[in-house]
Amino acid sequence: MRRLLITGGAGFIGTNFVRYVLGIDHSVEITVLDLLTYASQKENLQGLPVSRVRLVVGDICDAQLVDELVKETDVVVHFAAETHVDNSLKQPGIFVSSNLVGTFTILEACRKYNKRLHHVSTDEVFGDLPIDSTERFNEESPYQPSSPYSATKAGADFLVRAWIRSFGLMATLSICSNNYGPYQHQEKFIPQQITRILSGQKPVLYGNGKNVRDWIHVEDHVRAIWLILKKGRPSDSYVVGVNGEHSNRWVLAQILRIMGKASDDYEEVADRPGHDLRYALDSSKITDALGFEPKNTEFVKGLTQTIEWYDQHRAFWQNR
Ligand SMILES: NC(=O)c1ccc[n+]([C@@H]2O[C@H](COP(=O)([O-])OP(=O)(O)OC[C@H]3O[C@@H](n4cnc5c(N)ncnc54)[C@H](O)[C@@H]3O)[C@@H](O)[C@H]2O)c1
Repeated sequence: MRRLLITGGAGFIGTNFVRYVLGIDHSVEITVLDLLTYASQKENLQGLPVSRVRLVVGDICDAQLVDELVKETDVVVHFAAETHVDNSLKQPGIFVSSNLVGTFTILEACRKYNKRLHHVSTDEVFGDLPIDSTERFNEESPYQPSSPYSATKAGADFLVRAWIRSFGLMATLSICSNNYGPYQHQEKFIPQQITRILSGQKPVLYGNGKNVRDWIHVEDHVRAIWLILKKGRPSDSYVVGVNGEHSNRWVLAQILRIMGKASDDYEEVADRPGHDLRYALDSSKITDALGFEPKNTEFVKGLTQTIEWYDQHRAFWQNR
């Protein structure tokens, strides 16, 4: 596993993964394939050793380019996707293209050259749970996606599973909950609130703010992916969460408190159509089978560090 091809490696989780892997394994060489959509920027990879990281700007739907890059790699880690639910309601076509056709293109190249693939998925494929239930999703839960984003991610997961079953592709999947931490675009819930406050605007809350998300620090997600690459059983899926369930209203209240704002200093806006109510994951499999142990289990501490990061890295989010 010396040469890694990382799709979407200039986006939020991809950037954190590239930085983590370079730090933990000094023999690894990385090629990032990224279209550099609005969600990413090449500066995210600034300061990394050029002898070990190469950025190729291109589309995962470009079969010739993907073929060339997969041919010369040992393992593909597939993050690239359109990821914002609101955008998927306005422009579903690019989600079908990047998330479905893009994944198909990666799969075909991996099949041709018999390369190991790790596919990064989301708990949104399962749909949502009632707010007041104690049920959690696991690897066996049925898929019931709600938005064009989650439907195209679900479709991509099915493609990966079909390539495993039909063609014997060596692939693993991770299905993770909501991530937070550095390098996340400010369109997403936590950085949106932080950057609005830092730029003198009021933060905004969708609907009644009761929607519950299972928050995981991005560093724990990338550690889980690395663990799956090292120890995971090819053909297996692993659900990754840290029991970090909090309502959006509670998370916003913490951000306001940490940033020294009054608890009512925000605006409520109309809810997103089809807004999922609650996500929650049961990570027993990755814990028991691979020994996964999250390190960032204190959410408020991780949130405070994330706020500091956005304060200290204004160039990351200003003028975007
Ligand atoms: N953010 C979360 O909370 C979360 C949780 C679970 C799973 N995931 C999954 O993790 C992956 C990464 O998510 P993220 O939050 O880092 O997203 P992101 O939007 O920050 O990054 C996505 C990256 O993919 C690139 N990309 C998009 N379309 C492309 C294309 N056609 N060709 C090449 N590159 C393309 C973008 O330029 C960007 O760098 C996604 O597959 C997402 O579904 C995200």
